[in-house]
Amino acid sequence: MAAITEKQLFELLEPFRQTHLLRFWKSLTASQQENLVQQICSVDWAKTVGWVKAALQNENLPIAFDQLQPAPYTPLEPATAADKGYQATCRERGQNLLKGGKLAGFTVAGGQGTRLGYDGPKGTFAFTALRKATLFQFFAESILRYQEKFSCALPWYIMTSPANDQATRKFFTKQKYFGLSPDNLMFFTQGTLPAFDLEGKAILSAPDSLALSANGHGGSFAALKDSGALEDMQRRGVSILSYWQVDNPLVKLFDPLFIGMHDLTGSEMSSRALIKRDPMEKLGHFCRLDKRTIIVEYSDMPEKLLYETDASGMLRYRAGSPAIHLLSCEFIQRLTNGSLDFQPHRALKKVPFVDDSGLEQNPSQPNAIKLEFFLFDALPLAKNPLIFAADRREQFAPIKNASGADSAESCRAALLERCANWFDQAGKPFPRKSDGSPDAIVEISPRRCVDTEDFLEQHTFLPAVSRGKSLLLD
Ligand code: UTP
Repeated sequence: MAAITEKQLFELLEPFRQTHLLRFWKSLTASQQENLVQQICSVDWAKTVGWVKAALQNENLPIAFDQLQPAPYTPLEPATAADKGYQATCRERGQNLLKGGKLAGFTVAGGQGTRLGYDGPKGTFAFTALRKATLFQFFAESILRYQEKFSCALPWYIMTSPANDQATRKFFTKQKYFGLSPDNLMFFTQGTLPAFDLEGKAILSAPDSLALSANGHGGSFAALKDSGALEDMQRRGVSILSYWQVDNPLVKLFDPLFIGMHDLTGSEMSSRALIKRDPMEKLGHFCRLDKRTIIVEYSDMPEKLLYETDASGMLRYRAGSPAIHLLSCEFIQRLTNGSLDFQPHRALKKVPFVDDSGLEQNPSQPNAIKLEFFLFDALPLAKNPLIFAADRREQFAPIKNASGADSAESCRAALLERCANWFDQAGKPFPRKSDGSPDAIVEISPRRCVDTEDFLEQHTFLPAVSRGKSLLLD
């Protein structure tokens, strides 16, 4: 970068009332000044300050709730013989796309995992009952199994953040990529955005550094393009990207039925939906507004709508998002060719800052606005978006918290229950306690088996499960 003077920096920041960022300038070393310059110049101040102003004015995004409708979704179970036939066609189409090398995996792993309180990239968190396998290991093993099943290569793209990129790469190297070919793995880093105080001033986390943090999973699109990942997919002939979040190990990474349906409906972005358990379940809602499909966050949804029921007595807004999507590569290309005009969402957070004497302060109350792009804001821009219901017992048990709901413990329980159901379906009843819960601990490595069909194909080779015992199937 060409040298930039203090005066030029001042002139750059002044129109946006951000010149306070230079208050330690004279006391910084040359390399510290360079660091600050580099950070300041990488921010689009006009846009960012505009977002912050809007965020400070509206707590909630302006949505015309009086015109909102629930989005229609395709149920999981076929209702008629024709539906059943259609699903068989889709499944076959999906299998052929997999065999033809048209799919790749995409994991967003750039989050901070604050709620989990684990010191390290969330993907390196060990969670399984017997092997203590990590989230990354679990996904890697699944990919190996899918590659084997469909005799194909499944490239895997992993988005990290500047804060966890090095640690993530090191982890994979140390684990020898879990047996995956490193040629089929690509890591890339997402962008960042500065945090602002409640007066709209960007925060310094050190005299020479803005308080920057990852720009949300919606930062995926720009990162896929800027990193060359999108080009890499094109070179490989990949046309569909299977998207999942690093904290949901149950997800079916490559579901032929979903893939085939996505392709045959000409959808650019497809999503799985869970039927909400209760009105307050914290899932985003699939909705329609102005002839477009959108997801409205649970926290933005008026309570009245959350509780509304339809003629059948079911919740009207019952289709919730577990953040499982298929994205067509052409769609990502189209989105990133023009200027990506996503509006970031705001979150009120505690962000450490330096006071006027240059000392770091850790606030006890939220003091800052953080901006994050959300992946689902691409949905209204997609042609023919498909929403396909999923069975939560098969596909959703995220690890968000250190304990209680959505924790490693609840995830292990969900994995065990899924495994017990597989045994039951295979005609090998799983031992259960009087309250119906599984009375044995069985861990199945995804290297061996990734879903119900896979299990049923192999069950004759599987040992019986003894009450109260532990069994590892890897
Ligand atoms: P969450 O919204 O649950 O955030 O991310 P988080 O950072 O993991 O956890 P908390 O809120 O700090 O406790 C959902 C998914 O999106 C990814 C996360 O890694 C996770 O897979 N994500 C989130 C990113 O990749 N980048 C981001 O900037 C934010």
